[in-house]
Amino acid sequence: MMKRVYNFSAGPAMLPGPVIERLREETGDWHGVGMAAMEMSHRSAEFISIAEKAEADLRDLLSIPDSYKVLFMQGGATAQFAVVPMNLCAPGDTADYLVTGYWSRKAAKEAARFCQANIALDTAVNGDTSIAEESQWRLSDKAAFFHYVTNETIGGVRLPTVPVTKAPLVVDMSSSILSELINVNDYGIIYAGAQKNIGPVGLTIVIVRDELLNERKGNGQKDTIPMVLDYRKMADAGSMLNTPPTFSWYAAGLVFEWLKAQGGIEKMAARNRAKADRLYQAIDSSDFYSNPVEKKYRSLMNIPFMLADESLNALFLEQAVERGLTSLKGHRTVGGMRASIYNAMPDEGVDALVAFMSEFERTNG
Ligand SMILES: Cc1ncc(COP(=O)(O)O)c(C=O)c1O
Repeated sequence: MMKRVYNFSAGPAMLPGPVIERLREETGDWHGVGMAAMEMSHRSAEFISIAEKAEADLRDLLSIPDSYKVLFMQGGATAQFAVVPMNLCAPGDTADYLVTGYWSRKAAKEAARFCQANIALDTAVNGDTSIAEESQWRLSDKAAFFHYVTNETIGGVRLPTVPVTKAPLVVDMSSSILSELINVNDYGIIYAGAQKNIGPVGLTIVIVRDELLNERKGNGQKDTIPMVLDYRKMADAGSMLNTPPTFSWYAAGLVFEWLKAQGGIEKMAARNRAKADRLYQAIDSSDFYSNPVEKKYRSLMNIPFMLADESLNALFLEQAVERGLTSLKGHRTVGGMRASIYNAMPDEGVDALVAFMSEFERTNG
């Protein structure tokens, strides 16, 4: 029997058990061809079939309209922080940034190297634990796009609504994609690093509306974009302008198949909501644990929590590992604990964490 722990890492994160099984079975000999998917030429008929099926399944899961391209890129979400303004802005253009935590702050800072990044709101004033109403955001008149992060992986803050702006929405969904229902038509661009809810690291999914791809800025920046970062060129080449991250693409495809077998995103969303509710309930019903985020904005994927007595942190983490509950240490900027509970985290994992939290409180409270 393979040893498997409940891994609460924020990313790279736990993959579904059945996907790990498929990887094991298919490594060495994929469907009788005598080699693993990761050994195949990306131009081979076999790999093209893997790549096309992964895209078709993703389109199906998220109901991605034909008027959007799906790009399989590299460089992580961090590369997109630069790639988005490179592709959508001419030098001097303004883009609006909603800053709700660590990642959106980083995105805005990187964007400022390629465009005028207007900070529409920065939640640092309240320690990134809440988000002011839209009426208080300072939007610019002619923004090329409006950028935000749906779910701040570190602070555990989620924007529960889709902003209404004149500018197209560009959204970093790294830690929430495929966890809840979305309407792709609401967005100009959706991007996400794979290593949380999609599959192994190395792949970045970019879903881009054709209209934005086709927009050509007259004054220069477009021509200086490295070709592998140029959305139009990547789209024209079917994301195979150069060698794509074939292993991650293939493994993401297995995750998409698994998601479909689970009943799709609606089913996952209900399960995710129930998992998060259970954990928040455990945190809120005790003075021993706390979560600082205003309820309305709490993340369903990444749940930070503090122990009232921080001197118990190390003991908590040590005993958690003994029970097969790993990677619960909070991000260094927040401290305490953080439980990342993406699609692959089974209900039993959350139950085991909640039971351990209660036991730990009994023994140390
Ligand atoms: C919301 C969000 N954006 C961006 C990043 C950075 O991603 P990458 O390491 O893929 O560049 C992360 C990583 O944790 C993230 O959670």
